[in-house]
Amino acid sequence: MPASAYTTSAKVLIIGAAGQVGHALTELLEQTSGIEPVALSRRQLDITDPAAVRKQLEKHLPDYVINCAGFNRVDAAERQQDQAMAINRDGAENLAVATAALSIPLLHLSSDYVFDGHYASGYSEEDEASPLGVFGRSKWLGEEAIRAAQPQHLILRVSWIFSARGENFLLRTLEQARHERTIEAADDRRGCPTSAEDVARVVLAILRQLTCGIDVWGTYHYCGAEITTRYGFSEALVAAARQYEELVVEQLQPVSSANLQCLAQRPASSVLKCRKLLATFGIRQRPWRSELQRVVREVYGEL
Ligand SMILES: NC(=O)c1ccc[n+]([C@@H]2O[C@H](COP(=O)([O-])OP(=O)(O)OC[C@H]3O[C@@H](n4cnc5c(N)ncnc54)[C@H](OP(=O)(O)O)[C@@H]3O)[C@@H](O)[C@H]2O)c1
Repeated sequence: MPASAYTTSAKVLIIGAAGQVGHALTELLEQTSGIEPVALSRRQLDITDPAAVRKQLEKHLPDYVINCAGFNRVDAAERQQDQAMAINRDGAENLAVATAALSIPLLHLSSDYVFDGHYASGYSEEDEASPLGVFGRSKWLGEEAIRAAQPQHLILRVSWIFSARGENFLLRTLEQARHERTIEAADDRRGCPTSAEDVARVVLAILRQLTCGIDVWGTYHYCGAEITTRYGFSEALVAAARQYEELVVEQLQPVSSANLQCLAQRPASSVLKCRKLLATFGIRQRPWRSELQRVVREVYGEL
């Protein structure tokens, strides 16, 4: 039964708990009174296995399920299409079917890459999806599977996630800055970086209101405040990291993304408009620059 006029705490099942957002969310919910998190990593639950999904849901009978699992390597998805689809499309569908059967609401994370990037001013939830590559297509098909199977769903599209752990643009760029004198970064792709901890904050704020019994199912956007480019983010990152370490990098080179010869095409603009989340839940965007300072401090062990 969804949460919970009857119980004092809401049990929240976090799937993909070892990833960037999964980890941040688990830490946050562990410190939150009134919420009992149950965190499952891929080793504990593989969402591509429908029987395993059902078994875990029946075992824990949570009030909410939050899916933080995903195949997120955008270039690798072009080569490993079957795997990307199995996790991002079929895994999402497995969760939708199983949660719907047990009347458990499902919160699912999706991506700015469902859009083709032609709207420089940004995308709202009503704009048409038109993914450019396998990754974006697999996320879009996962969303559609959830909409078809599970009325009690909340899909939160987020963008450009960074944190002090896992595989992400921040840690890759920092590693380059330690070893290479010149780093190239695309200055023609616009978006909004978002820390994993900030996504966790937003999910918690949503959960708090769902536990009050409001009915706000549907699709929402969230990203950090201030539009930038990969180049702009790299510049801010290198400046922040220089407070802690002498870096080898001498020059950041703005380049066209075409020069970077990535396997997957990426949207030129994947700015997400977040007005619906503000209007519905009162959740405001947090500036990514202050989150970047915090994450860099964490990388250097000062948190
Ligand atoms: N990262 C971004 O920039 C970004 C941008 C937009 C949207 N998103 C979305 O936001 C969500 C969270 O992203 P993130 O950056 O936190 O992801 P992440 O760090 O890549 O973590 C994803 C987690 O999912 C797990 N996983 C993969 N396949 C699984 C399966 N079959 N069953 C269960 N778990 C599985 C992974 O385990 P293994 O490591 O063992 O494979 C990993 O722990 C995802 O839905 C993602 O698509 C991310």
